[in-house]
Amino acid sequence: MTGKNYEAWDVKESDYPADGPMEERLKFLLRYAILAPSGPNTQPWKFAIHDSGISVFADINRALPFVDPSNRTLFMSVGCAIANLAVAAKHFGFAPSISYFPDGQESDLVASVQLSPGQKPMDGQDDLFPQIQRRHTTKDRYENATIANHLLKEMERNINLPGLYLTYLADEDAKNRMADLVSRAHQIQLAKKEFRQNLGEWLRSNWTAEPDGMPLYTFGVPDVISLGFPAAFKEFDLSRPVIYRDSGLIHDCSTLAVITSDQDDKQTWTMCGFVLENLLLRATSYDIRASFFSQPIGVSLLREELKKQVNRGHPQLIFSLGMAKPMRPSPRRPIEDVIVRH
Ligand SMILES: Cc1cc2nc3c(=O)[nH]c(=O)nc-3n(C[C@H](O)[C@H](O)[C@H](O)COP(=O)(O)O)c2cc1C
Repeated sequence: MTGKNYEAWDVKESDYPADGPMEERLKFLLRYAILAPSGPNTQPWKFAIHDSGISVFADINRALPFVDPSNRTLFMSVGCAIANLAVAAKHFGFAPSISYFPDGQESDLVASVQLSPGQKPMDGQDDLFPQIQRRHTTKDRYENATIANHLLKEMERNINLPGLYLTYLADEDAKNRMADLVSRAHQIQLAKKEFRQNLGEWLRSNWTAEPDGMPLYTFGVPDVISLGFPAAFKEFDLSRPVIYRDSGLIHDCSTLAVITSDQDDKQTWTMCGFVLENLLLRATSYDIRASFFSQPIGVSLLREELKKQVNRGHPQLIFSLGMAKPMRPSPRRPIEDVIVRH
């Protein structure tokens, strides 16, 4: 890996300052929190370190008003970072206790994570820590292999917060219906210039030196084409190639999955992100990767259709699971940029 914008991935467990001050130890845990996935790699989180824990904030300056107007994806992404923080904390012998929106859902304080030290460090099969640096999103293609049922069940166990559900959709009919929903969502959204401009701001060439956004190699776009692609995406409706790519990720995956919920608010979205990242880390331990399809959730008409199809509450996220080769990671912001004084 080269470039400063990839240095976050080089964090080494052996550098943990076990005998250092609490602040240094908690800061080290955050180096794992920031490796979490986020929709379109905006990394919309901020952290404040206290004597006994970490406050996690949403960074609303990183919102995408035309792509994610309710900030659903933004809060899910913050939930993913909280999950990584909790996994790293347990690995290094802390007992994390998370309280979501302690000041109410209008506050940008998403969670207060109390971290009591001196616990037995977690290791072995239940420890998802080694997967944090191995996880990445697959956006190119799957290897067209089937995931065994017992592994799917194992992953489902991570959706373990009340009011959240996981539904697998593996048969051809369901895949066709989902491919159709995703395709219609792309057609509706990519026809709008402000949507293209908003999302296009987060597309990056394959040589990007930016600390955020989505490098086009993750989508399998060749180097030379990646240079002009972000500008072209903003200007023209490229829904056809986008639909073609997503259709491959839907038809060649082992199964699709939908997270749904009883409630539909910021706290629910954050908790969805939390369980999602735990599921993704578990999946990574079996070399199973995921690809996301946020589009139909963002178009209210299509979301209603999906709601009827799944029939288990409010749809929050569609993703596919399959076997895929490891791929070069995406950039991350330096830890100093996301720590605030409070
Ligand atoms: C809640 C959420 C929604 C996402 N939605 C999409 C999506 O609709 N399409 C897509 O290509 N990637 C989606 N992603 C994946 C991000 O683009 C990816 O996590 C980010 O670029 C960082 O890359 P990494 O996951 O490989 O570290 C989503 C990620 C999250 C956490």
